[in-house]
Amino acid sequence: MLRFVQLLPQAAPEGEFLLKDLPGSGKRIDVLCRDLAACFDWGPISWSKSNLELIAVIGESIILTFRDPQNQIPKGEVGWASVIRDSLRGDPPAFVEVSEGYVEDIIKELNQPKVSKLWVLDEEGVYLSEIDSYQKTTQNSFMLGDHKGFDSQTKKFISQFDIQKVSLGKKSYLSSHCLATIISEFERKFR
Ligand SMILES: C[S@@+](CC[C@H](N)C(=O)[O-])C[C@H]1O[C@@H](n2cnc3c(N)ncnc32)[C@H](O)[C@@H]1O
Repeated sequence: MLRFVQLLPQAAPEGEFLLKDLPGSGKRIDVLCRDLAACFDWGPISWSKSNLELIAVIGESIILTFRDPQNQIPKGEVGWASVIRDSLRGDPPAFVEVSEGYVEDIIKELNQPKVSKLWVLDEEGVYLSEIDSYQKTTQNSFMLGDHKGFDSQTKKFISQFDIQKVSLGKKSYLSSHCLATIISEFERKFR
């Protein structure tokens, strides 16, 4: 299982945003829409979508878990935004699970030696190509910040739980680009 965790502490947890103004009214919910398209639409070539999962933490404690939409892939950013909005308003489709929890809980759950490995995507980390410790048979999860990176509380958890930082280079990329790059690296490594 390859999993992504997108943190969006500033996004509106009630789903009160306009489809015509996702960055402004959605407080950068457009980031998540592009992540989802990269994860379940255009990103994977040989990696099975049933082995992909995307967890979004919206605001402080709303968690949306997205799995393979199969033949219901939403169209474009607005299609994904409608799915997010319906889910936040209590009417998720079958491929989305809505729950409550905090970033710290997710870190603890996904960072379990020998069972599940959690990484943080960070420009200052170790280069992706230099890492050789992906767990082939278990779970790898990659956590991403929002347009501002990680807030101070999350940085504290990253250091407290000693989460390894992985870099795709010194340049700051769109989160969706990061997701697609990781998927492609896993396709190459575990072909
Ligand atoms: C748009 S970037 C954040 C913007 C920028 N890092 C900042 O702090 O202003 C969103 C997230 O994508 C990931 N990311 C972007 N570029 C990256 C890179 N070159 N290497 C690793 N992760 C990256 C990080 O998790 C980052 O928090």
